[in-house]
Amino acid sequence: MHFDKNFTFGTATSSYQIEGAHAEGGRTPSIWDMFCDIPGKVYKQHNGDTACDHYHRYEADIQHIKRLGVDTYRFSIAWPRIFPEKGKYNQEGMNFYKKLAERLREEGIKPAVTLYHWDLPLWAHEEGGWVNRDSVKWFLDYAKACFTELDSLVDSWITHNEPWCAGFLGYHQGVHAPGHTNLDEAVKAVHHMLLSHGKAVEMLKKELASSTEIGITLNLSPVYPKTDSVNDALAANNADGYSNRWFLDPVFKGEYPKDMMNLFSKYVHSYDFIKEGDMEAISVQCDFFGINYYSRGIVEFSAAHDFMHKGAYSDYEKTGMGWDIAPNEFKDLIRRLRQEYTNLPIYITENGAAYDDTVENGRVHDHKRVEYIEKHLEAVSELNKEGMNIQGYYLWSLLDNFEWSFGYDKRFGILYVDFETQERIWKDSAYRYAAIIRDHKKSHSLQEEIAQ
Ligand code: FCB
Repeated sequence: MHFDKNFTFGTATSSYQIEGAHAEGGRTPSIWDMFCDIPGKVYKQHNGDTACDHYHRYEADIQHIKRLGVDTYRFSIAWPRIFPEKGKYNQEGMNFYKKLAERLREEGIKPAVTLYHWDLPLWAHEEGGWVNRDSVKWFLDYAKACFTELDSLVDSWITHNEPWCAGFLGYHQGVHAPGHTNLDEAVKAVHHMLLSHGKAVEMLKKELASSTEIGITLNLSPVYPKTDSVNDALAANNADGYSNRWFLDPVFKGEYPKDMMNLFSKYVHSYDFIKEGDMEAISVQCDFFGINYYSRGIVEFSAAHDFMHKGAYSDYEKTGMGWDIAPNEFKDLIRRLRQEYTNLPIYITENGAAYDDTVENGRVHDHKRVEYIEKHLEAVSELNKEGMNIQGYYLWSLLDNFEWSFGYDKRFGILYVDFETQERIWKDSAYRYAAIIRDHKKSHSLQEEIAQ
C-alpha cells in the first residue's frame, strides 16, 4: 500500500464511550446515562459512569497515541459538560477539552473534534430533544462556545457524527438513546440535526471568520440486492434510501429523496417542519466529507416489513459484530460518492472491527483485526490511485470502550482495556498500525533524501 506524503493517519474515540467521570467537573446526565438505566436496553445494563476513565487518564492515553505515531486524534466533546443546564455555561467542563487539545498539540498530534457524538444533555431531551426545532438554537450556543474557546487548538471540526444512528436508531428503531420508536419524530430529529450542522458551519466560517476546516461525518453502508429480481432491486433501493440517501441528498443536493418521502408518509403526516431556507442551510459548502465505514448491507424484498426490505443471508466472513467484511464494497461506495455526490476531500473518520479478544501472557494476538485494517487501508490506497482523494484515515478505536447498546461486550480497541484495573495493553493491531505509519513516514523521508 502507498499513501501520499500528506495523508493523515489517526485514531478515534468519543466522549461518552471513554471518559467516565459522569458526575464530575459539573457534568450533568445525557440521554445515554438515562438510556443505560432502562432495564433491557444495554447489555447487562452497563453504562458509561467510569468507561475507560479517560477523564482522569488522558495524559497517559496521549502517550499511547504518541507511541502509535498517528498525525491526528479524533475525539468528541460532551455537551452536558459544557452546558450542564439550559443556558448555563460551565467553564470547568470546557477546561478539560482545552487541556486535552493543548497536550495533544504539544506532542505534535492534531486534534480533530466532533461536537455531537450522541450525548445530548438530558435537559435538552426533557424539552423535546432533537424533535424540538429549538434544539438547533441550543446546539448553536454550544457550538459557539466550543468554537470560541477551542478553535485555535483544533485542526478539524466535525459537527455531527452519524445522524443516521442518532436519528433513526434513537428515535425510530429505539435501540439507541432516547429509545423512541416513531418515524415521524425521527425524521424531524434528523432534520434538526442536519440544520444545526449547516448553521454551525456557517457560524464558524462567517460569524467567527475561522479558516479551520469543518465538515460532517455520515455512516454509509452500500446496499446490495440478494438476487437480480425486480423486487429485490426495490428492496435495495429502499434500504439505500433509509440508510444513505436520506442523509447524502440533503447534505449535497439540498433535498430529501422524493421516493423516500413518499414511503415515509405512511408515518410522517406532514413535512411542514421543513421551513424556507432550511435546505440551503443544510447543503452549506463544507471543507471535507467524513465517512464512517464498517460494512455493506444485503437485503431482500419483504412485503411484511416497513419499506419492503429485510436483511438477507450473506456468506461473507464476519467481524465480532456479525458484520460482513467488505473492503471491495467500500470501494464501490467511494466511487459512487464521487460520481453522484461530491468532489470534497474525504476522510475516513472511522473504520475498524470488534472481535472477542483475549490476553495471553500480556499480549493480544488479534490477527483478524490486523487483517481487517490491512484490507481497508489497502482499499484506501487503491482508491487514491484512481484519484478518489481520500486524505486521511482514523482507526476506530484507540481503546476498547462502551459500545453503546452492546456495553463493554464488544471490543473495538487497538489497545485492550482491562475494565477492572484500567490497564491498557497494546494489541497486535496497535503494533501493526504503528508499523504501517512508520513505514509510510520512512519511505517518504527516504524519497526526499534521495531527491536532494
Ligand atoms: C459507529 C460509532 C462509534 C462506534 C462504532 C463501532 O457507529 O460512531 O461510536 O460505536 O460505530
